[in-house]
Amino acid sequence: MPDVTFHRSVFSFQDIPNCGLPEICISGRSNVGKSSMLNCLTKKRNLARISQTPGKTRSLNYFLVDKKYFLVDLPGYGYAKVPKSQKIQLSNLTDSYLNKRAELKGLIQLFDARHGPISGDKVMLEWIREWGGNTLFVLTKADKLSTSNKIKLERTYKKEFGLENMVMFSAHTGSGTKEVWSWINNTLK
Ligand code: GTP
Ligand code: MG
Repeated sequence: MPDVTFHRSVFSFQDIPNCGLPEICISGRSNVGKSSMLNCLTKKRNLARISQTPGKTRSLNYFLVDKKYFLVDLPGYGYAKVPKSQKIQLSNLTDSYLNKRAELKGLIQLFDARHGPISGDKVMLEWIREWGGNTLFVLTKADKLSTSNKIKLERTYKKEFGLENMVMFSAHTGSGTKEVWSWINNTLK
């Protein structure tokens, strides 16, 4: 089990730590389960804050792993109180981070396993395709699916995202944990 500690929260691009360590970021809609996944991966219940209220994470939250690299919890998107807009609201901070951060070596994109990529996620998917970097697609809250549905959806998602780049995950049961860590380790090799 890697040693993970909270490093700091960053509220503007200039304040990003400048120590040259590689970074893996965690992206997804508000409330999809980014912070829960971090806590589950590290078996630390209170490492990243979880809430029932979407839009809680407004900063980039840096977590140092084995003193070798950072996991970066991004602010959730899609929490704009603008019901008409189908566009995702990437904050300026997230936007600068994704487009300018040279240390970014891999991205973990979360979707809700029940729905897959929905409306706003498509903008993120487009960005990912253009970026072309190492991406792991995590379908989370898998515990909310029936077994038969899970098997069916897993097959569909693997076809869409590729076998190696897709993990069914549940922060509640811990399923998928091993696969996520092994993807991270391979990406940083
Ligand atoms: P923001 O910080 O607002 O962007 O949200 P987030 O993506 O970090 O989501 P968070 O981890 O705070 O989880 C949101 C809600 O989903 C919480 O009520 C969690 O308990 C619940 N949740 C997260 N992961 C899972 C999961 O794997 N299974 C189930 N059943 N619930 C989950
Ligand atoms: Mg969060």
